[in-house]
Amino acid sequence: MKSIIKSFSEHGTFVQPDSLTYILSKDDPEEFTSFITKNLKEYPLVLTIDQIKNLELSLSTKEKKPAEPIVENKELQTKMLSNIYGGEIPKPIPEDNDLEYDDPDKEDQIDIPFEETQNLDTPKLIEIKKVKDWKPKSKDYDSEIKILKDVTGNSTSEGTSKDFTKLFLNRYDVLRRLLRSQRRELANAIPINKIKKSGMKEIQLVGIIKEVRTTKNGHKLIEIEDETDTAACIALKNNRDLFQMASEIILDEIVGIKGQLSRNGDLIVVQNIVFPDVSIQNSRHKSENPVYAAFLSDIHIGSKQFLEKEWQGFIKWINGDVGNSRQRDVAGKIKYLVIPGDVVDGIGIYPNQESELAITDVYRQYEVLAEQFQMIPDYISIIMQPGNHDAVRPAEPQPTFEKEIQNLFSSNDMTFVGNPCYFSLNDVEVLSYHGQSLLDFATNIQHLKYNEPVEIMKTMLKKHHLAPTYGGYTPLAPEHYDYMVIDKVPDIFVTGHVHLATIGEYRGVTLINASSWQAQTTYQKMLNFIPDSGKLPIVDLKTTNVTMMDFSNKF
Ligand SMILES: [Fe+2]
Repeated sequence: MKSIIKSFSEHGTFVQPDSLTYILSKDDPEEFTSFITKNLKEYPLVLTIDQIKNLELSLSTKEKKPAEPIVENKELQTKMLSNIYGGEIPKPIPEDNDLEYDDPDKEDQIDIPFEETQNLDTPKLIEIKKVKDWKPKSKDYDSEIKILKDVTGNSTSEGTSKDFTKLFLNRYDVLRRLLRSQRRELANAIPINKIKKSGMKEIQLVGIIKEVRTTKNGHKLIEIEDETDTAACIALKNNRDLFQMASEIILDEIVGIKGQLSRNGDLIVVQNIVFPDVSIQNSRHKSENPVYAAFLSDIHIGSKQFLEKEWQGFIKWINGDVGNSRQRDVAGKIKYLVIPGDVVDGIGIYPNQESELAITDVYRQYEVLAEQFQMIPDYISIIMQPGNHDAVRPAEPQPTFEKEIQNLFSSNDMTFVGNPCYFSLNDVEVLSYHGQSLLDFATNIQHLKYNEPVEIMKTMLKKHHLAPTYGGYTPLAPEHYDYMVIDKVPDIFVTGHVHLATIGEYRGVTLINASSWQAQTTYQKMLNFIPDSGKLPIVDLKTTNVTMMDFSNKF
């Protein structure tokens, strides 16, 4: 079974449990797997049973027609991805006597009555030793934190349709201004209702994407709207670069289009698609003082899968108790800990979550987290943001934690911020976003993969938006101001959510996906998704150099 899952995961494809059962029901599941992988036209994010059956059907007919294209079922993908990142327990696959199906970890999965396991796994406090010669350099510097943009305390949303109109108008205004001021190709953009009367052949316009679809002949038809009207645009498939750009367009984003008006004036033949993007000459801020910021996401306290041993390694290291001299030197320069959400596992995030929880009271989860934070030196400033597992409203932008929770952390120097949030650390500007929409991007843009978050973050920067599409995986609140717009290019852009530890760079912006402190969940295990947990990306704010500490097996 594992080899079958692996064959698909190598292509970035998850196998739906029903699909797996179907494959295993075949006389030769391995051969059937290679039949599927050979004949799939493109690899979907989630392989459904309908896709397999369609493939079988299309290839069994004697007509020489190509296999049906894979129609991605967004709703299903959303559900699957929510399961992967929420950790929903799948229905067990029927028992089979074949040894190949035996799970080597079966003993670990014996169902112990819930009450008996409750609270057995609460992380312990460890003794912090006084370490001789330990003189952390960051102690000599004061914290310099400025909040630059945050919904906390500024929420206006009442959830009415008027609110949504305001949200989209604000998004359009901000990004149109940005596109027109920074992109010469759009300097003469005109409102859509002026196109016909203008008599111009070369058209430039800026609008919000209303629809994008592939025509029967394989071209991309893009419907774009502004406050005056809607225009139909076509990107022809024989222009490969342009077609590739058109394939990256998603609903509700703001783009510029340059094209030629067709003879009858009903269609614009696209010559160029202009995304806001980041300037190549993007200059970055640096700290005067030699201090570091560490990024620590998705702690998931309260989960049975919380990585206590790795966490203790981190606590010992940050107190100068472990590591070689270079590693201890790095520890001593940490001035900031940035936490981009899912600080606890929460409760009721997905069905049957209780059976995966070591701590079943959400308030207690935050108490335990606060107890653990008491072991973090008090000269370190912690900037903490909520994620989709935290006890705040689920719709983004999410305002920060309520006072009752904040008060638990009085032993630390805490700054509580919303999700997303722009802030600066010693003048270095950070955009911190938990990252739920990473999955929307992976679902909607063919070449982006859930397990390559840095590539998705580059796309977010190109589009200057964290979550454009309404009605996808990411719930959006209709604020009058669009907090999800990237109106300013940050120096550091950090996300979490997908539990991977990745570092990258895009036109001078440092990109980080900040790992997790939760081991592989039951569902992730079944789908062969391996999180990259127990790691700590660190940025030297003076030089902008990035490094990664690995606690997953060193301590
Ligand atoms: Fe998480």
